Amino acid sequence: MSRRPLIVDCDPGQDDAVALLLAFAAPEEFDLLGITAVAGNVPLALTESNARRIRDLGGRPEVPVYAGCPRPMVREPVTAERIHGATGIDGADLPEPVRPAEAAHAVDFLVETLLSAPEPVTLATLGPLTNVALAIVKNPAVLANLHEIVAMGGAIGTGNVTASAEFNIFADPHAAHVVFEAGAPLTMIGLDVTHQAIATPPRLEAIRALGTAPAAAVCGMLDLYGAKNMAAYHHGAPLHDPCVIAWLLQPDLFEGREMRVDIDIADGPCFGRTVCDVRGRSGRPANARVLERLDADGFFALLTERLARLPAGA
Ligand code: BDR
Ligand code: CA
Repeated sequence: MSRRPLIVDCDPGQDDAVALLLAFAAPEEFDLLGITAVAGNVPLALTESNARRIRDLGGRPEVPVYAGCPRPMVREPVTAERIHGATGIDGADLPEPVRPAEAAHAVDFLVETLLSAPEPVTLATLGPLTNVALAIVKNPAVLANLHEIVAMGGAIGTGNVTASAEFNIFADPHAAHVVFEAGAPLTMIGLDVTHQAIATPPRLEAIRALGTAPAAAVCGMLDLYGAKNMAAYHHGAPLHDPCVIAWLLQPDLFEGREMRVDIDIADGPCFGRTVCDVRGRSGRPANARVLERLDADGFFALLTERLARLPAGA
Protein backbone atom coordinates (compact mmCIF):
# COMPACT_ATOMS: atom_id res chain seq x y z
CA MET A 1 0.00 0.00 0.00
CA SER A 2 1.42 3.43 -0.89
CA ARG A 3 1.65 5.99 1.87
CA ARG A 4 -0.67 8.99 1.74
CA PRO A 5 1.22 12.32 1.58
CA LEU A 6 -0.16 14.37 4.50
CA ILE A 7 0.24 17.82 6.04
CA VAL A 8 -1.38 18.52 9.42
CA ASP A 9 -2.35 22.14 10.16
CA CYS A 10 -3.05 22.59 13.88
CA ASP A 11 -3.32 24.80 16.98
CA PRO A 12 -2.37 22.49 19.88
CA GLY A 13 -4.58 22.26 22.03
CA GLN A 14 -4.81 18.97 23.95
CA ASP A 15 -7.03 17.33 21.33
CA ASP A 16 -4.71 18.52 18.54
CA ALA A 17 -1.86 16.94 20.50
CA VAL A 18 -3.64 13.58 20.63
CA ALA A 19 -4.38 13.88 16.89
CA LEU A 20 -0.69 14.50 16.16
CA LEU A 21 0.30 11.45 18.21
CA LEU A 22 -2.21 9.36 16.29
CA ALA A 23 -0.71 10.59 13.01
CA PHE A 24 2.83 9.90 14.27
CA ALA A 25 1.74 6.36 15.11
CA ALA A 26 0.80 5.66 11.50
CA PRO A 27 4.10 5.78 9.56
CA GLU A 28 2.97 3.01 7.23
CA GLU A 29 -0.16 4.90 6.21
CA PHE A 30 1.08 8.52 6.17
CA ASP A 31 4.03 10.22 4.53
CA LEU A 32 3.95 13.14 6.96
CA LEU A 33 5.41 16.03 4.96
CA GLY A 34 5.10 18.62 7.70
CA ILE A 35 3.09 20.19 10.49
CA THR A 36 1.92 23.77 10.18
CA ALA A 37 0.83 25.73 13.24
CA VAL A 38 -1.72 28.51 13.38
CA ALA A 39 -3.00 30.81 16.13
CA GLY A 40 -6.15 29.38 17.66
CA ASN A 41 -6.64 27.76 21.03
CA VAL A 42 -3.67 29.78 22.26
CA PRO A 43 -1.38 32.30 20.51
CA LEU A 44 0.91 31.14 17.69
CA ALA A 45 4.12 31.14 19.78
CA LEU A 46 2.53 28.46 21.96
CA THR A 47 0.80 26.41 19.25
CA GLU A 48 4.01 26.05 17.26
CA SER A 49 6.18 25.19 20.28
CA ASN A 50 3.49 22.77 21.50
CA ALA A 51 3.58 21.03 18.11
CA ARG A 52 7.35 20.60 18.51
CA ARG A 53 6.98 19.27 22.07
CA ILE A 54 4.47 16.70 20.83
CA ARG A 55 6.77 15.81 17.94
CA ASP A 56 9.50 14.99 20.47
CA LEU A 57 7.07 12.99 22.61
CA GLY A 58 5.96 11.03 19.55
CA GLY A 59 9.55 10.19 18.59
CA ARG A 60 9.29 11.81 15.15
CA PRO A 61 12.07 14.46 15.18
CA GLU A 62 12.38 14.37 11.39
CA VAL A 63 8.92 15.85 10.77
CA PRO A 64 9.32 19.60 10.09
CA VAL A 65 7.16 22.11 11.98
CA TYR A 66 6.36 25.51 10.45
CA ALA A 67 4.87 28.53 12.21
CA GLY A 68 2.06 30.19 10.30
CA CYS A 69 -0.36 33.04 10.82
CA PRO A 70 -0.43 34.79 14.19
CA ARG A 71 -3.96 36.15 13.75
CA PRO A 72 -7.13 35.62 11.72
CA MET A 73 -7.67 37.26 8.31
CA VAL A 74 -10.23 39.89 9.27
CA ARG A 75 -11.77 39.47 12.70
CA GLU A 76 -10.07 40.16 16.02
CA PRO A 77 -8.19 37.18 17.51
CA VAL A 78 -10.06 34.79 19.78
CA THR A 79 -8.45 32.08 21.95
CA ALA A 80 -9.73 29.23 24.15
CA GLU A 81 -7.61 29.11 27.33
CA ARG A 82 -10.87 28.56 29.19
CA ILE A 83 -10.93 25.02 27.77
CA HIS A 84 -7.24 24.31 27.09
CA GLY A 85 -5.47 26.19 29.90
CA ALA A 86 -2.78 28.86 29.59
CA THR A 87 -0.32 26.72 27.60
CA GLY A 88 -2.89 24.98 25.37
CA ILE A 89 -1.55 21.59 26.44
CA ASP A 90 -1.89 21.95 30.21
CA GLY A 91 -1.59 18.54 31.84
CA ALA A 92 1.07 17.20 29.46
CA ASP A 93 4.09 18.41 31.46
CA LEU A 94 6.57 18.18 28.56
CA PRO A 95 10.15 19.49 28.33
CA GLU A 96 11.32 22.28 26.03
CA PRO A 97 11.38 21.15 22.38
CA VAL A 98 14.66 19.73 21.15
CA ARG A 99 14.78 21.54 17.81
CA PRO A 100 13.50 24.93 16.54
CA ALA A 101 10.74 25.44 14.00
CA GLU A 102 11.74 25.66 10.33
CA ALA A 103 12.65 29.10 9.01
CA ALA A 104 9.96 29.16 6.29
CA HIS A 105 6.48 30.50 6.96
CA ALA A 106 3.76 27.83 7.05
CA VAL A 107 1.85 29.45 4.18
CA ASP A 108 4.95 29.39 1.96
CA PHE A 109 5.61 25.76 2.94
CA LEU A 110 2.03 24.86 2.00
CA VAL A 111 2.24 26.64 -1.35
CA GLU A 112 5.66 25.28 -2.29
CA THR A 113 4.89 21.74 -1.16
CA LEU A 114 1.54 21.60 -2.91
CA LEU A 115 3.01 22.98 -6.13
CA SER A 116 5.92 20.53 -6.17
CA ALA A 117 4.64 17.31 -4.59
CA PRO A 118 4.79 14.38 -7.03
CA GLU A 119 1.32 13.22 -6.01
CA PRO A 120 -1.73 15.00 -4.55
CA VAL A 121 -1.45 15.88 -0.87
CA THR A 122 -4.07 15.46 1.86
CA LEU A 123 -4.48 18.37 4.25
CA ALA A 124 -5.76 17.60 7.75
CA THR A 125 -6.89 20.80 9.48
CA LEU A 126 -7.37 20.88 13.24
CA GLY A 127 -7.62 24.62 13.89
CA PRO A 128 -8.80 27.89 12.34
CA LEU A 129 -8.34 27.80 8.55
CA THR A 130 -6.16 30.93 8.24
CA ASN A 131 -2.99 29.24 6.90
CA VAL A 132 -4.92 27.14 4.39
CA ALA A 133 -7.02 30.06 3.13
CA LEU A 134 -3.98 32.25 2.67
CA ALA A 135 -2.17 29.51 0.76
CA ILE A 136 -5.18 29.25 -1.58
CA VAL A 137 -5.35 33.04 -1.96
CA LYS A 138 -1.61 33.34 -2.51
CA ASN A 139 -1.53 30.75 -5.28
CA PRO A 140 -4.81 29.10 -6.34
CA ALA A 141 -2.77 26.58 -8.37
CA VAL A 142 -2.26 24.70 -5.08
CA LEU A 143 -5.82 23.41 -5.44
CA ALA A 144 -4.83 21.23 -8.38
CA ASN A 145 -2.51 19.13 -6.20
CA LEU A 146 -4.78 18.86 -3.14
CA HIS A 147 -6.12 15.34 -2.79
CA GLU A 148 -8.59 16.49 -0.15
CA ILE A 149 -9.01 18.70 2.89
CA VAL A 150 -10.31 17.01 6.02
CA ALA A 151 -11.32 19.69 8.47
CA MET A 152 -12.40 19.54 12.08
CA GLY A 153 -14.82 22.41 12.33
CA GLY A 154 -18.42 23.52 12.35
CA ALA A 155 -21.59 21.67 13.18
CA ILE A 156 -24.90 20.80 11.63
CA GLY A 157 -26.39 21.52 15.03
CA THR A 158 -25.44 24.00 17.69
CA GLY A 159 -22.07 25.58 18.40
CA ASN A 160 -19.63 25.37 21.30
CA VAL A 161 -18.24 28.88 21.41
CA THR A 162 -21.51 30.67 20.62
CA ALA A 163 -25.00 29.22 20.31
CA SER A 164 -24.38 28.92 16.56
CA ALA A 165 -20.68 28.55 15.97
CA GLU A 166 -17.94 26.01 16.57
CA PHE A 167 -14.54 27.39 17.68
CA ASN A 168 -12.36 26.66 14.60
CA ILE A 169 -14.82 28.31 12.22
CA PHE A 170 -15.72 31.15 14.61
CA ALA A 171 -12.02 31.94 15.13
CA ASP A 172 -11.61 32.74 11.41
CA PRO A 173 -14.89 32.59 9.49
CA HIS A 174 -13.50 34.51 6.53
CA ALA A 175 -10.74 31.91 6.09
CA ALA A 176 -13.32 29.14 6.39
CA HIS A 177 -15.39 30.88 3.70
CA VAL A 178 -12.38 30.87 1.34
CA VAL A 179 -11.71 27.18 2.00
CA PHE A 180 -15.33 26.01 1.73
CA GLU A 181 -15.79 27.96 -1.53
CA ALA A 182 -12.47 26.80 -3.07
CA GLY A 183 -13.86 23.73 -4.81
CA ALA A 184 -11.36 21.26 -3.32
CA PRO A 185 -12.69 17.89 -2.11
CA LEU A 186 -13.61 18.64 1.50
CA THR A 187 -14.70 16.51 4.44
CA MET A 188 -16.16 18.41 7.40
CA ILE A 189 -15.96 16.74 10.80
CA GLY A 190 -18.06 18.87 13.09
CA LEU A 191 -19.33 18.77 16.64
CA ASP A 192 -22.16 16.39 15.65
CA VAL A 193 -19.48 13.70 15.31
CA THR A 194 -16.81 14.82 17.74
CA HIS A 195 -19.26 15.02 20.64
CA GLN A 196 -19.66 11.25 20.18
CA ALA A 197 -15.90 10.80 20.82
CA ILE A 198 -15.96 11.36 24.58
CA ALA A 199 -12.98 10.12 26.60
CA THR A 200 -14.93 8.41 29.38
CA PRO A 201 -13.06 7.14 32.48
CA PRO A 202 -12.87 3.51 31.22
CA ARG A 203 -11.53 4.65 27.84
CA LEU A 204 -8.91 6.81 29.58
CA GLU A 205 -7.94 3.95 31.88
CA ALA A 206 -7.29 1.72 28.85
CA ILE A 207 -4.86 4.36 27.55
CA ARG A 208 -3.27 4.94 30.99
CA ALA A 209 -2.66 1.18 31.29
CA LEU A 210 -0.24 1.35 28.34
CA GLY A 211 2.21 2.75 30.87
CA THR A 212 4.24 4.75 28.32
CA ALA A 213 5.30 8.40 28.33
CA PRO A 214 2.92 9.30 25.45
CA ALA A 215 0.04 7.53 27.22
CA ALA A 216 0.80 9.36 30.49
CA ALA A 217 0.90 12.71 28.68
CA VAL A 218 -2.36 11.97 26.83
CA CYS A 219 -4.12 11.05 30.09
CA GLY A 220 -2.64 14.05 31.92
CA MET A 221 -3.94 16.36 29.19
CA LEU A 222 -7.33 14.71 28.88
CA ASP A 223 -7.94 14.61 32.65
CA LEU A 224 -7.54 18.36 32.75
CA TYR A 225 -9.26 19.12 29.43
CA GLY A 226 -12.09 16.76 30.46
CA ALA A 227 -12.58 18.61 33.75
CA LYS A 228 -12.75 21.95 31.94
CA ASN A 229 -15.22 20.55 29.39
CA MET A 230 -17.30 19.13 32.23
CA ALA A 231 -17.43 22.56 33.88
CA ALA A 232 -18.27 24.35 30.61
CA TYR A 233 -20.42 21.82 28.75
CA HIS A 234 -21.32 19.04 31.23
CA HIS A 235 -19.60 16.26 29.29
CA GLY A 236 -16.10 14.74 29.40
CA ALA A 237 -13.24 15.34 26.99
CA PRO A 238 -14.45 15.38 23.34
CA LEU A 239 -11.62 14.20 21.06
CA HIS A 240 -12.51 16.58 18.24
CA ASP A 241 -9.25 16.67 16.31
CA PRO A 242 -8.25 12.98 16.53
CA CYS A 243 -11.45 12.24 14.57
CA VAL A 244 -9.75 13.78 11.51
CA ILE A 245 -6.83 11.37 11.67
CA ALA A 246 -9.11 8.44 12.54
CA TRP A 247 -11.22 9.19 9.46
CA LEU A 248 -8.09 9.00 7.29
CA LEU A 249 -7.01 5.73 8.92
CA GLN A 250 -10.35 3.97 9.26
CA PRO A 251 -13.22 5.68 7.43
CA ASP A 252 -15.59 2.80 8.15
CA LEU A 253 -15.85 4.13 11.72
CA PHE A 254 -17.84 7.09 10.36
CA GLU A 255 -21.03 7.82 8.43
CA GLY A 256 -21.87 11.00 6.59
CA ARG A 257 -23.23 12.51 3.39
CA GLU A 258 -22.60 15.21 0.84
CA MET A 259 -24.29 18.57 1.24
CA ARG A 260 -23.96 22.31 0.67
CA VAL A 261 -22.26 24.14 3.54
CA ASP A 262 -22.14 27.93 3.69
CA ILE A 263 -20.12 29.89 6.23
CA ASP A 264 -22.02 32.76 7.83
CA ILE A 265 -19.66 35.75 7.77
CA ALA A 266 -22.33 38.38 8.50
CA ASP A 267 -22.22 40.10 11.88
CA GLY A 268 -24.90 38.80 14.20
CA PRO A 269 -25.79 35.80 16.31
CA CYS A 270 -24.91 33.29 13.56
CA PHE A 271 -21.44 34.74 12.81
CA GLY A 272 -19.14 31.75 12.17
CA ARG A 273 -21.92 29.21 11.75
CA THR A 274 -21.63 26.40 9.20
CA VAL A 275 -25.03 26.48 7.54
CA CYS A 276 -25.51 22.85 6.48
CA ASP A 277 -28.19 22.30 3.84
CA VAL A 278 -29.12 18.85 5.13
CA ARG A 279 -32.34 18.70 3.13
CA GLY A 280 -30.96 20.22 -0.09
CA ARG A 281 -33.29 23.21 0.12
CA SER A 282 -30.91 25.57 -1.71
CA GLY A 283 -30.70 23.41 -4.83
CA ARG A 284 -26.98 24.29 -4.98
CA PRO A 285 -24.36 21.58 -5.48
CA ALA A 286 -22.73 19.97 -2.47
CA ASN A 287 -19.33 21.34 -1.50
CA ALA A 288 -18.55 19.04 1.44
CA ARG A 289 -18.94 15.56 2.76
CA VAL A 290 -20.29 16.14 6.27
CA LEU A 291 -19.74 13.36 8.78
CA GLU A 292 -22.55 12.72 11.22
CA ARG A 293 -22.00 9.45 13.08
CA LEU A 294 -19.08 7.68 14.75
CA ASP A 295 -18.49 4.20 16.13
CA ALA A 296 -17.02 5.61 19.35
CA ASP A 297 -15.84 2.28 20.79
CA GLY A 298 -14.09 1.50 17.51
CA PHE A 299 -12.52 4.96 17.53
CA PHE A 300 -11.08 4.53 21.04
CA ALA A 301 -9.87 1.01 20.20
CA LEU A 302 -7.99 2.46 17.20
CA LEU A 303 -6.55 5.31 19.27
CA THR A 304 -5.40 3.05 22.11
CA GLU A 305 -3.89 0.47 19.78
CA ARG A 306 -2.00 3.16 17.84
CA LEU A 307 -0.72 4.98 20.95
CA ALA A 308 0.73 1.64 22.07
CA ARG A 309 3.00 1.71 19.00
CA LEU A 310 4.75 4.97 19.96
CA PRO A 311 8.16 4.83 21.67
CA ALA A 312 7.62 4.21 25.40
CA GLY A 313 9.93 7.08 26.41
CA ALA A 314 11.24 7.89 29.86
C1 BDR B 1 -12.02 22.67 18.13
O1 BDR B 1 -11.63 23.87 18.80
C2 BDR B 1 -10.52 23.63 19.62
O2 BDR B 1 -10.81 24.04 20.91
C3 BDR B 1 -10.19 22.16 19.53
O3 BDR B 1 -8.79 21.98 19.47
C4 BDR B 1 -10.87 21.70 18.27
O4 BDR B 1 -10.01 21.84 17.15
C5 BDR B 1 -13.33 22.18 18.73
O5 BDR B 1 -14.31 23.14 18.62
CA1 CA C 1 -7.67 22.26 17.38
